[in-house]
Amino acid sequence: MIKSLRGMNDILDENESKRFTYFLDVAQNIARRYGFHYIETPLLEETALFKRSVGESSDIVGKEMYQFTDKGDNDVCLRPEGTAGVVRAFIQKKLDKAGGIHRFFYHGPMFRYERPQKGRLREFHQFGVESFGIESVYEDANMIMMVSDILKELGIGYRLQINSLGDNNCMPEYRDTLVSFIESIEDEICEDCKRRKSTNPIRVLDCKNEKCQSLYENAPKLLHSLCENCDNDFEKLKKILDANDISYEVDTNLVRGLDYYSKTAFEFVSDNIGSQSAIAGGGRYDRLVEFLDGRPTPAVGFAMGIERLLELIQMPQELREGYYLGAMDEEAIDTIITLTHKKRATDKAVCDYKAKNLKNHLKSADKMNAKYCCVIGTNEMSNGTIWVKDLENKIEKTIPLKEF
Ligand code: HAM
Repeated sequence: MIKSLRGMNDILDENESKRFTYFLDVAQNIARRYGFHYIETPLLEETALFKRSVGESSDIVGKEMYQFTDKGDNDVCLRPEGTAGVVRAFIQKKLDKAGGIHRFFYHGPMFRYERPQKGRLREFHQFGVESFGIESVYEDANMIMMVSDILKELGIGYRLQINSLGDNNCMPEYRDTLVSFIESIEDEICEDCKRRKSTNPIRVLDCKNEKCQSLYENAPKLLHSLCENCDNDFEKLKKILDANDISYEVDTNLVRGLDYYSKTAFEFVSDNIGSQSAIAGGGRYDRLVEFLDGRPTPAVGFAMGIERLLELIQMPQELREGYYLGAMDEEAIDTIITLTHKKRATDKAVCDYKAKNLKNHLKSADKMNAKYCCVIGTNEMSNGTIWVKDLENKIEKTIPLKEF
């Protein structure tokens, strides 16, 4: 038997698929309320796009890409995340040259060749948004408020961690200070961190190795090295969050696993789903458009991991909905098909293609959570009527077909 690949799941179980579509309904509605519109980009892109944006020093590009050469000899890979493709599309459409504000949302599968475990898949789904053209920290706060609104509507509790990664003004100086610190403890850190020291030193702060983590507790803090502009923006961000009742923790070691961020970085974590606790992450990436050959454009965004959210979602109580139609006699089936088709112009309607007794039809109607069970038997056939039971308040009546 052919099975799905390791770390790649079907979303087929009714409970899970209901949660999945419910999540998308909630997230998309909220994104539209915030003025974002839907964008679709290809699953497959040139490998160079991710090397230049997510960064060669990141684990995603260094270890986890589904990369191959296609039949036309192109070096391509399945997208490991959504931001790079949206930025590429933004530049390709010349929206960077057009200027103004552009706000997009997207959802779909992402691919990372990671070691699968609970909450960590090789194919997983993200819902994400990207906002272009706004330098103001109000837009960073807007992103955080949007994630918070989505999680609130889904009944999901969270902890929010925020940090500032500085900009071109203050980051280089901090990087030098950090490199000197790393050199002072170089004998004690892991091999990955030794490599990161020369590729992208701030990524050491994100190391999962316990010994490294305890050593970096004494590392110089990025937040203490911010220039005036970055510092003011970070203070302002905290004020906006306070004013909007969004609690947060400042985590000076939060650097995120992708290289394109500057200034605001944030992560939403849940304490109820085990070790893979990040349920959403994002931040500002003001240099990325320019880095991918576009006109410099400030940008900020986030993405949420849908699979990690599925087990946390509090589903609203499901209400009975629509019509179930059935025949007790073979000869009434054609009428049932026509009536069902008619009902579908305005309502959900499902019918059975086989003649069954009343008890079985009631059972089927209940199983599909229909509000009405509508049945035609011999009597109804000869009288031109249909028997209708409201399954919510248990009222039964027989009505002429013309009025149905
Ligand atoms: P990210 O933090 O790499 O950011 O991923 C966002 C979310 O995707 C994570 O918080 C997590 O919930 C989920 N996720 C990541 N990897 C896996 C996995 N292997 N299995 C299941 N879920 C996973 C980004 O991808 C950025 N593009 C976010 C962004 C948008 N920044 C700015 N704009």
